[in-house]
Amino acid sequence: MRMYEIIQKKRYGQALTKDEIRWLIEGFVNGEVPDYQMSALAMAICFRGMDAEETAELTMAMAESGHQLDWSDIPGVKVDKHSTGGVGDTTTLVLGPLVAAAGVPIAKMSGRGLGHTGGTIDKLESIPGFRTDISMEAFRRQVREIQIAIAGQTADLAPADKRLYALRDVTATVDSIPLIASSIMSKKLASGADAIVLDVKVGDGAFMKHPDDARQLAEAMVSIAKRAGRRAVAVLTRMDEPLGFAVGNALEVREAILTLRNQGPADLTELCLTLGAEMVVQGGKARTVDEARDLLRRLLENGEAIQKFKDFVAAQGGDARVADDLSLLPKASVIKSFLAPADGVVEVLRAQAIGLVAMRLGAGRAKQSDVIDPAVGLVLRRKLGQTVVQGEPLIEVHANSEEAADAAIEQLRACVEIGGRDPFDAPLVLDVVR
Ligand code: URA
Ligand code: CA
Repeated sequence: MRMYEIIQKKRYGQALTKDEIRWLIEGFVNGEVPDYQMSALAMAICFRGMDAEETAELTMAMAESGHQLDWSDIPGVKVDKHSTGGVGDTTTLVLGPLVAAAGVPIAKMSGRGLGHTGGTIDKLESIPGFRTDISMEAFRRQVREIQIAIAGQTADLAPADKRLYALRDVTATVDSIPLIASSIMSKKLASGADAIVLDVKVGDGAFMKHPDDARQLAEAMVSIAKRAGRRAVAVLTRMDEPLGFAVGNALEVREAILTLRNQGPADLTELCLTLGAEMVVQGGKARTVDEARDLLRRLLENGEAIQKFKDFVAAQGGDARVADDLSLLPKASVIKSFLAPADGVVEVLRAQAIGLVAMRLGAGRAKQSDVIDPAVGLVLRRKLGQTVVQGEPLIEVHANSEEAADAAIEQLRACVEIGGRDPFDAPLVLDVVR
């Protein structure tokens, strides 16, 4: 086989065979296929696409290029959840304990944040004492004993994807549905879950700005999972404003705790019930999503969800008292507010720009080596569609210096539009792809 012919074939719009895909990924990982040929192929895929079978083959070849986790020693259906990335998205911190309380084992490897989106590992590390670098043995024992563990990804999962993503990033070839779907799903398949619930974000703060693209990505990912012998469902959710009120690490932990105590923001609670119900059904702990939703609501109301969070935090060395005493979380020294510039209805709350303001405050990283300040971030006092009066606090800024707070307030001006529309409800869940 020759890489030249494979590139040419894709350039002419023909489908690659399973053998060709396996061969080229193997060659790419062991250095026989050079970066310039792989880049040319990625560009041809951007223009010509891949059919469902090719996309699934590419995904499986990348998933098998490195370490693959195996949870068969843990009883039950292992269900994973993945979000394509949003702003202020605290769902994993709520969903993990909530779904574990329903009896579904959660063995989750999570990442750190980069750019305008945050990472679950950074958020968890804002809990005093919490450790995310636990050993594989401790991790497995913990899942067996309390049904939940969340750790930083240490294993070398899907190295072919890591290398290909780095090339795509510098050759303007990120933006292709088969390449994005195979990239995300290769890591999910290698993580070893039996079933995967995908939260595909749509809107200003998401990878996919338009619902049609998001639906295509969702369908591609669900199809890959099925061809790989796993179960999957994708929920399309709106990400044009931050999720919940809080953006920032300790602030989002606080919001997750309130949600687990059944006192959380309406949109975050609704998203956790929607995704959680799918996870509970996949995990075989309810027959229908309605039954699963009722079960999860009861766990939020009767305290079992927050108790599972306490057990989880304590098991990973953290101070579980934070669940009852939010003042134990790191706090910023300066709290100032961005005030509503006019009377009216909040018509725009630009998620991506708001995520970047939080990042510049120190809640996230512009580059991998940046150090996070767990205390800083933003808290929305109004959501899309709500009314405000000029001069009322619209967004709270939590900073560790006056200068940083003032700079953030200045930047927030461009993130908000207030207009003359009637108050409105912005739907959160757009569709479910099975
Ligand atoms: N996230 C990924 O992991 N891969 C992509 O290609 C895009 C988003
Ligand atoms: Ca939030």
